Amino acid sequence: MAADLITMDDLTNEEIEALLNDAEKLLPVAKGDVYLPLLQGKLLGNMFFEPSTRTRMSFETAMKRLGGNVVNLGALASSSVTKGETLFDTMKMVDGYCDVAVLRHPRQGAAQYAADACEIAIMNGGDGAGHHPTQTMLDLFTIRQAHGRLDLNVVMVGDLRYGRTVHSLSHALSRFGAHLTFIAPASLSMPEEIIEDLESCGASITVSEDLLSNLPTADVIYMTRIQKERFPDEDEYLKVAGIYKLSRSNLKDVKESMIIMHPLPRIDEIHPNVDNTPHARYFDQAFNGVVARMALLCRVFGVSVPEEVGE
Ligand code: CP
Repeated sequence: MAADLITMDDLTNEEIEALLNDAEKLLPVAKGDVYLPLLQGKLLGNMFFEPSTRTRMSFETAMKRLGGNVVNLGALASSSVTKGETLFDTMKMVDGYCDVAVLRHPRQGAAQYAADACEIAIMNGGDGAGHHPTQTMLDLFTIRQAHGRLDLNVVMVGDLRYGRTVHSLSHALSRFGAHLTFIAPASLSMPEEIIEDLESCGASITVSEDLLSNLPTADVIYMTRIQKERFPDEDEYLKVAGIYKLSRSNLKDVKESMIIMHPLPRIDEIHPNVDNTPHARYFDQAFNGVVARMALLCRVFGVSVPEEVGE
């Protein structure tokens, strides 16, 4: 059976920990200091039906650093999607051409639909407001890298309603004993069914609309963009656009070890004057996408990462 990754439920806690350990070992490969062609001869299909910089490029980097190769669907305007080809038929093509595929699609559930249609493994690169599990792997890696553990107070801020990154991350973190604080305006609050699901699994959750009062106790602040493209009505977007903004002056009373993360792209949620503080981790986080995705690709092909990767 293909090692699909559609939601974080596809990985046990033990598998997550093993993948994080593999990702750690692969850091010199991601940096280009060591060439380790573990995936030579393998071909990844990058199937992006929505814009992406990090997910698409870090998957491509991961594959190529490991000696594999990549084909891209490319711009939708130059693909047969514009002629009305269905997702099913498009994925049937990639199933024949490639050994594994990453799918990003605006429709929630599209990754599972593609996985059902394909023999090859499908990695969910983000399905609408659904899930983004490969992002969660790099998020967990970044948190563990900074704190050495995951049972922390993690404050998630912004678009928690449509934010697939926070949907996947909150599931994973609650399994590792984190306390989750959800901060959003009422119109963008974490969906009730997700909160109920997390609480039924024993998650510890605080809900608030106020960012500043929650800063001093946070171990991780996870900022997210208010996603204009997910709103059915632009007026609703304008009511909440720019609602949470973090700048250097807000960081006086935070813990020394607190880290600020963001899946990126950012608009105005984090002022550039935060970038040079010791708390800013969002660019390291984006780099960690390469090692996290390398580890996931090795898992797809049943390839073991050597204990000693070398320098
Ligand atoms: N974090 C993330 O998914 O970024 P992209 O949309 O650029 O892939």
